[in-house]
Amino acid sequence: MNNFILYNPTKVLFGKGMCSKIGALIDKNAKILLAYGGGSIKKNGVYDQIKSALKGRKIVEFSGIEANPEYETCMKAVKLIKKERINFILAAGGGSVIDAVKFISAAVKFKGEPWDILSKGAEVKDALPFATVLTLPATGSEMNMNSVISRRGLSLKLAFASPKVFPLFSVLDPTFTYSLPKKQISNGVVDAFVHVLEQYLTYPAAAPLQDRFAESIMLTLYQEGPKALKSPKNYDVRANVMLCATFALNHMIASGVPQDWSTHGIGHEITALYGLDHAQTLAIVMPKMMLFKRAQKRAKIISLGKAVFGIEEKSAKLAVDKTVAAFKDWLKKLDVKFEFADYGIDAKEAPKRIAQNLARSVKTLGEHNDITPKDVEKLLAIK
Ligand code: NZQ
Ligand code: ZN
Repeated sequence: MNNFILYNPTKVLFGKGMCSKIGALIDKNAKILLAYGGGSIKKNGVYDQIKSALKGRKIVEFSGIEANPEYETCMKAVKLIKKERINFILAAGGGSVIDAVKFISAAVKFKGEPWDILSKGAEVKDALPFATVLTLPATGSEMNMNSVISRRGLSLKLAFASPKVFPLFSVLDPTFTYSLPKKQISNGVVDAFVHVLEQYLTYPAAAPLQDRFAESIMLTLYQEGPKALKSPKNYDVRANVMLCATFALNHMIASGVPQDWSTHGIGHEITALYGLDHAQTLAIVMPKMMLFKRAQKRAKIISLGKAVFGIEEKSAKLAVDKTVAAFKDWLKKLDVKFEFADYGIDAKEAPKRIAQNLARSVKTLGEHNDITPKDVEKLLAIK
């Protein structure tokens, strides 16, 4: 097992009605920026619950944060925060709103050009405190220190991470997810599942506890994901999906084990170039990645097949093939497409274009740092 430091200061308020407790957790004198997206929180009652929990408090609103949050939008919020002398941000939404707020909170305090945080990995030394009310279980952003921001004008989608951008607290009320469209339910389940794969599907690292944690999250998502589509108002199903998504990427299962993240790296390029939803890009890349790296990842692909998909197969070759097929079958159940053509993308032209865009910011990917942009072109061409 590798050495590690595990640090996670985010307080989680889990369950129905927990939003009512947020007033006591935010400084009484704070001037709060309530940041949200395109307005789903106004239709599903989340906005009203937040306003009632923060009755009598100084609140300024910032709306319109788009899916795959845009740098320019974030910078508008930075300007507003400085003008209004805001000292706390509450993000209400999915990963996009939360990621945007992480970047905004870092950018407000950053001395210099905030774009450098994303483009040059400039260190975030300070950030405005913020908290989240999660409405879409998927990214784990509510309990991690990562953020991904897009700059459409430059066809870039870049990530940063800093312990300064852990949320102070996050409200996880499963009933807030009842209003999600089917597509977003599936997106969230697939994203969370692939987060676990990025931290599991590498090579055995003498870390059976982390492996069992990872398998139990995937097995739960495998079983509960399709149920969430069928019974969107089943509280227990939604609660389990929500908890899985948070625990899939809150740094816990990454402790002491190798990590991959190449599927995400490539996926971000697909979103930057073609505008696909984050999870849709992962559904395209992950099966191809498993096949491209089937030799190096063999032992873990076979464990995945056994533990999650129930595959018992003596031949290693067949076990790998069956596991990839089972993953694709599950994607079908969730109605998430996994071929370029399904999204109207030219499968002949896309691999090269994606690899070239990736090469602008990345030299190598993967747990062995051995996947080059040329390899990415090859693996994306796998059928
Ligand atoms: O904008 P609103 O009106 O809120 O609508 C959103 C949006 O259109 C809607 N939605 C959210 N909650 C809803 C709802 N609609 C009805 N009812 C609700 N309860 O869903 C749409 C998508 O929301 P978005 O926040 O974009 O989705 P998601 O949570 O999947 O976030 C995706 C972003 O997170 C990044 C992705 O790259 C992408 O930019 N990621 C962040 C990570 C992190 N910080 O650790 C890791 C991930 O791998 C990922 O890269
Ligand atoms: Zn993801």
